[in-house]
Amino acid sequence: VQTVTSPVTDAAPAGRLTIVYGSQTGNAKRLAEQLARQSEAAGLPVRLLRADAYPTRELKDERTLYLVISTQGDGDPPDDARALVEFIAGKRAPELKQLRYAVLGLGDSSYPQFCAIGNRLDARLAELGATRLLPRADADLDLETVAEPWLAQALSKAKEALKPTAPLATVTPLRPLQPAHGRDAPFAAELLANQRITARGSAKDVRHIELSLEGSGLHYEPGDALGLWPLNPPALVEAILRTSELDGEAVVEHGGQRLPLRQWLAEKRELTKLARPFVASHAAQSRSEELNALLAPDRQTGLTTLLNQAQVLDLLRRHPAAWSPEEFVAALRPLTPRLYSIASSQKHVGDEVHLTVAHVEYDDGDGLRWGAASNHFARSEEGARLPVFIEHNERFRLPADASRDVIMIGPGTGVAPFRAFVQDRAAVGAAGRNWLFFGNPHFRSDFLYQVEWQQALKDGTLHRLDLAFSRDQSHKVYVQQRLAERGRELFDWIENGAHLYVCGDATRMAKDVHAALLSVIAAHGGRSADDAEDYLNTLQQQGRYARDVY
Ligand code: 2AM
Repeated sequence: VQTVTSPVTDAAPAGRLTIVYGSQTGNAKRLAEQLARQSEAAGLPVRLLRADAYPTRELKDERTLYLVISTQGDGDPPDDARALVEFIAGKRAPELKQLRYAVLGLGDSSYPQFCAIGNRLDARLAELGATRLLPRADADLDLETVAEPWLAQALSKAKEALKPTAPLATVTPLRPLQPAHGRDAPFAAELLANQRITARGSAKDVRHIELSLEGSGLHYEPGDALGLWPLNPPALVEAILRTSELDGEAVVEHGGQRLPLRQWLAEKRELTKLARPFVASHAAQSRSEELNALLAPDRQTGLTTLLNQAQVLDLLRRHPAAWSPEEFVAALRPLTPRLYSIASSQKHVGDEVHLTVAHVEYDDGDGLRWGAASNHFARSEEGARLPVFIEHNERFRLPADASRDVIMIGPGTGVAPFRAFVQDRAAVGAAGRNWLFFGNPHFRSDFLYQVEWQQALKDGTLHRLDLAFSRDQSHKVYVQQRLAERGRELFDWIENGAHLYVCGDATRMAKDVHAALLSVIAAHGGRSADDAEDYLNTLQQQGRYARDVY
């Protein structure tokens, strides 16, 4: 999937800049596109490629390469960059003395493996003999502070390294039409519905959300996500002000903005996710020996547990510190948008967009915990306006050939994009069959969209439905067990050209489902474990095994 159409991309390697991105949620892609556009405007011959479209055999001849790549939670590459990362990190990678390069890593500093992939590639390319054009930067979720300066420097280094031709009048713009609303200019969408769809008695509070996109000019495809710029829970903001003994009315100037502290906390700062930089600042501020000890290099597991289990408020409670309002605002991370897989097809709902949102709110004995965006949705009433944008996800798409079958594995709120898929396939009258695997704790309280699935079965727009209610019997039953039980038919569908999709929990479910798929392929395809892995990798490369996991 070559993203650039500029005629100058045919330039020989010596005179050309290649920009490759690996992106899971679209940030790396956006930044790489921005760099490509600016380079092109500066008269540089540039080609921009998604990592899985980069022909690895060309690496040994590549002269100038920028890599923009993210790291997933536990240190994995994004799906589209798996093969490239393996190639560069692997034993068969060629010597790269001819290459000048630089890496921009993206990640989330609330994970200990922050930017591990960018780091690994940067070190490995140097080891292979390549010359670094500029130092790597590791950008956190708030992209502006680190990524923007890196992009500016990368552009000026590229201009020095390559002779820019005069900007070509005929260059095709990378993206001719920017939609009016995007990440940086969200649309204020009216909330049309906010309904709890788990029954009373369920441990989960899952909401069906409907928003109006009327007048926004926004369009989405099944598989895309909706981004929300959330506002923090007011009760959390007040609890933080109380605990820190800071005055919410105190006016704080930071990054060219002057706002009361309360507004900084409500609208501009990350309060529900803890990251290492804040722990470090708070350790210094509080002079807590316990916290400082956790930051020692040999205490990784203690820090990981803290980042996973604690929030900003917990640190303030456990390790009192005398913050000034200015220092506090500077130490906290900027608030970033949250993405939700869209649960509707525009062919079916028109100007609306639907979501399936698990409202995260629990008391772990240490006080209430909230999720920023899910709480924003859950507490909003019909008629409220929420700042949203569309994040396209080209890697999670229905087959272009509607006669192909699809197999959808989506336990919990992972079912969301499959509601969009089934709506869309019904709307276009797709000839292919639809098979859904769904799971949740209890049939009675947690069968999300039960009525719709049953209607779709009746209408013939859903062909197979397999359910795994984990807690309705004495032993746990998960979707991967259903995959194993249906192994024969599943393998037949796949051999027949079906596309496979997985959505939901990344840490456990997606890994177990992946393993179950490998077993099915080995058992019913008569393959060794290695061959089953090749088989599944090939499906992934063909875009026939796609995952949207978080
Ligand atoms: P549990 O909470 O009863 O263990 C959606 O969250 C569903 O996914 C729940 O039924 C949950 O079961 C289940 N689940 C938990 N761990 C899982 C795993 N490793 N693989 C598949 N499903 C899992």
